[in-house]
Amino acid sequence: MSEELKRKAAEAAMGEISSGMRIGLGTGSTARHFVDLLGAEVARGFQCLCVPTSEATAAQARGLAIPLTTLEEIDRLDVTIDGTDEIDGAFRLIKGGGAALLREKIVAAASERMVVIADDSKLVETLGRFPLPIEVNPFGLAATARAIGEAMARFGAEGGHALRRKPDGTALLTDGGHHIIDASFGRISDAEALSGALLEIPGVVQHGLFIGLCSEAYLASVSGTIRLSG
Ligand code: 5RP
Repeated sequence: MSEELKRKAAEAAMGEISSGMRIGLGTGSTARHFVDLLGAEVARGFQCLCVPTSEATAAQARGLAIPLTTLEEIDRLDVTIDGTDEIDGAFRLIKGGGAALLREKIVAAASERMVVIADDSKLVETLGRFPLPIEVNPFGLAATARAIGEAMARFGAEGGHALRRKPDGTALLTDGGHHIIDASFGRISDAEALSGALLEIPGVVQHGLFIGLCSEAYLASVSGTIRLSG
């Protein structure tokens, strides 16, 4: 997706916020545009209190003097604006391409609304083309990976799974000190059941299926930006 389309989706979502709001800040290259735009508004006097979903977003926000807080300090957020790897017609998402899915899900769940910003290539008929990121505890990694493989087979996965690695070959560590296993399903026919099955695996901390959290999206394409709401 071009940076221009990401920017356009982020610009459209600026209409969702107003001064005084408590805002969850997503992670990824599209969310980054939103944080930039918000920073420019803050410099002009816009009031907000924000919870970032990753150390990367926190660093960006701090650099722009966006006031930050935590979910220890406040209970609820008015809205979270975040990117996605996939979104289907029922506003179910696959997230975690940027390895921030755990904090993203915690922040989205603490928000009155989650608004997704993306280009329209992220809109899919059936989730699963994008490998599902699964955040796992490093302890007992092999056992957890085996159990994930078994669950994948039960759900008719078309591909395998792989531990996400950094360019130097070492296992990627999330902000929470966990690893990510990317599970290639091809298509996920029953996202709700899969979600439950994955969460039953003891070593699984969380997975990137976001169900019932998002109800609005701005999807940018070369012909314009559309707002979807459910
Ligand atoms: C990070 C995420 C991102 O929101 C998702 O990967 C989309 O990123 P981008 O806007 O760079 O395409 O879930 O964990």
